[in-house]
Amino acid sequence: MHELTPETITDAVLDQMATTADPRLKEIMACAVKHLHEFAREVKLTPAEWIKGIAFMTAVGKICTPARQEFILLSDTLGLSALVNGLHDSTAMEEGTHTSLLGPFYREASPNLAAGSQIARTVKSGTELLLYGRVTDVNGKPISGATVSIWQTGASGLYDIQESAASIDYRGVFTTDANGLYLVRTVRPIGYSIPMDGPVGEMVRAQRRHGMRPAHIHFLVGAPGYRELVTALYLRDDPHLEDDVVFGSSGDLAVDINPRDSESPIEGLPSIRFDMRLSRETAADKAGGRVGADPSAILKQPA
Ligand code: BEZ
Ligand code: FE
Repeated sequence: MHELTPETITDAVLDQMATTADPRLKEIMACAVKHLHEFAREVKLTPAEWIKGIAFMTAVGKICTPARQEFILLSDTLGLSALVNGLHDSTAMEEGTHTSLLGPFYREASPNLAAGSQIARTVKSGTELLLYGRVTDVNGKPISGATVSIWQTGASGLYDIQESAASIDYRGVFTTDANGLYLVRTVRPIGYSIPMDGPVGEMVRAQRRHGMRPAHIHFLVGAPGYRELVTALYLRDDPHLEDDVVFGSSGDLAVDINPRDSESPIEGLPSIRFDMRLSRETAADKAGGRVGADPSAILKQPA
């Protein structure tokens, strides 16, 4: 019988998994095992630490509900989501607007709204803003009929879904006109803290991190024949633009609020102009499926 040691165990596991039928699953699992084993050897992981890690992952799973996806939050705070987004961008056939995090608060059930509608059900506080821009291909040709889904926090710094699972607020789906233009009334977004009352918050506090995201507005944009885009705009003057706890903000997505915009389609409101360029879709993009999924759907997926 062969003798298993910390040096030989990795090959023994890889040998046993070599029969995996799906080649991509085989590649991913083999690489994951190699790195996991190397990680354990490098830090000399003790049994007590390993149990602590398992207890942490169990707590992350337990707190997940259709309205709360703690695993996405974990991936976000470890920079894994931003890394996967960057890798995804690099497979596009053309360089469009860069991706940013979907985050855990996107919902498929958002109302379709007419151009110029206000997405806040009531504008009690906060500065009313006009948000507009053109959706084009990478050469600037307008894409009409693109769907532009938008969501952001309210004046409390919370998403609607954090206040109540049933309420829909500060979100909507718009359609671009013949010139590729979308037009939205909203309120100035504010920076906010990610949910800190669960195991991920405990991890972030243990690392002495602030847990803040800079003020932003999310977008999910789709049009037939084009690669779906998940992105966000960030307010340039936010103090956390450089140290976003989930590594989503990036200089090329930063915008300014223009107090007097002579090109604004609606006068009298401060405005943000945010144009987005979509790459054409490849067969691989099509086969890869949607990049923006409602996190609540994860609980319904078969393992
Ligand atoms: C968000 O922007 O909605 C978000 C992203 C990652 C973690 C938490 C919130
Ligand atoms: Fe957000």
